Amino acid sequence: MYRELEKIKEEGLKALLEIKDEKELENWRVKYFGKKGELQKLIINLKSTPKNERPKKGREINQLKNNFLDNFKNKKQEISNKSSQTKWVDPTLPSILPPIGHLHPMTLTINEIISIFEPLGYQRVSHPEIETDYFAFEALNMPKDHPARDEWETFFVNDNIVLTPHTSSGQVREMRKRKIPPIRMLNISRCYRRQQDVSHTPVFHQFEGLFIDEDVSIADLKGTLEYFTIRFFGEDRKTRIRPYHFQFTEPSFEVDISCEVCSGRGCKLCKNIGWLELGGAGMVHPNVLKAGGINYLKYKGFAFGWGVERILMMKTKINDIRLIYQNDIRFLEQF
Ligand code: PHE
Repeated sequence: MYRELEKIKEEGLKALLEIKDEKELENWRVKYFGKKGELQKLIINLKSTPKNERPKKGREINQLKNNFLDNFKNKKQEISNKSSQTKWVDPTLPSILPPIGHLHPMTLTINEIISIFEPLGYQRVSHPEIETDYFAFEALNMPKDHPARDEWETFFVNDNIVLTPHTSSGQVREMRKRKIPPIRMLNISRCYRRQQDVSHTPVFHQFEGLFIDEDVSIADLKGTLEYFTIRFFGEDRKTRIRPYHFQFTEPSFEVDISCEVCSGRGCKLCKNIGWLELGGAGMVHPNVLKAGGINYLKYKGFAFGWGVERILMMKTKINDIRLIYQNDIRFLEQF
């Protein structure tokens, strides 16, 4: 190889080896491949080379050019690989989090009910949803064919088995299990009735409190209801009990809470009454205590049973119970 070419080759490859970025590489390209570059100069100089040597030198210039081109391409690739590898990555940044859900509003409400009654010593229990006619009605002072049963719009599996229409079916079961008072039961369960409209579904939930001890009075019932209402609905809400009739309590009451829109003055929501109906309550009937094997001369008790959906709807102003079970994410996200 011509000395002159060898020198350019050596210098060129050495310079290429030290190149670290695209800018340096571009300078290198201009220096060797540019219009006034080293290779071009060699070609121009070819004219002053003796004629017989020209083909050989020309071939060598071409080889050099190809060699430089290959090395240039490799270097270019190397630089671009490196720059994509060294793109700024901060491994300490938090990653993209998946959306996080939360408990269903019904579960949240049930948990809240439990947390309100627990400090009073109420124990959360569960009793069968597929229940005998006996515990759902008979033990609650509603013998077969008693007209009071009508109110419970019951699904009968057969003559003796029902889908429990209320949590009161747990009362006598609990008494028989515990045997000796004091009993403080909080029975929260699904209930079933043949009903369906904006405030009723065939499957719904109730929570039932049962308190049995010596010297239990209506004042204790009233105090308990008030305590719950204030904790669940807020300080400014009032409760009242109104005479009613249930076969399994005597006396029986319906419990109302003051309307939150008008604070008792009367408005559209409460139909000008000033009160909204919460649910039933009363002093446990001696026949029910008897069915539960409790000494009804020594012990007294009170019970109350309210709808979980109902209190959730009252608290949050949900106006259609079906929204709770449609699982529309836009609805659920609001809780
Ligand atoms: N079980 C009754 C109902 O479903 C409510 C109730 C419970 C009433 C306890 C009195 C005592 O309507």
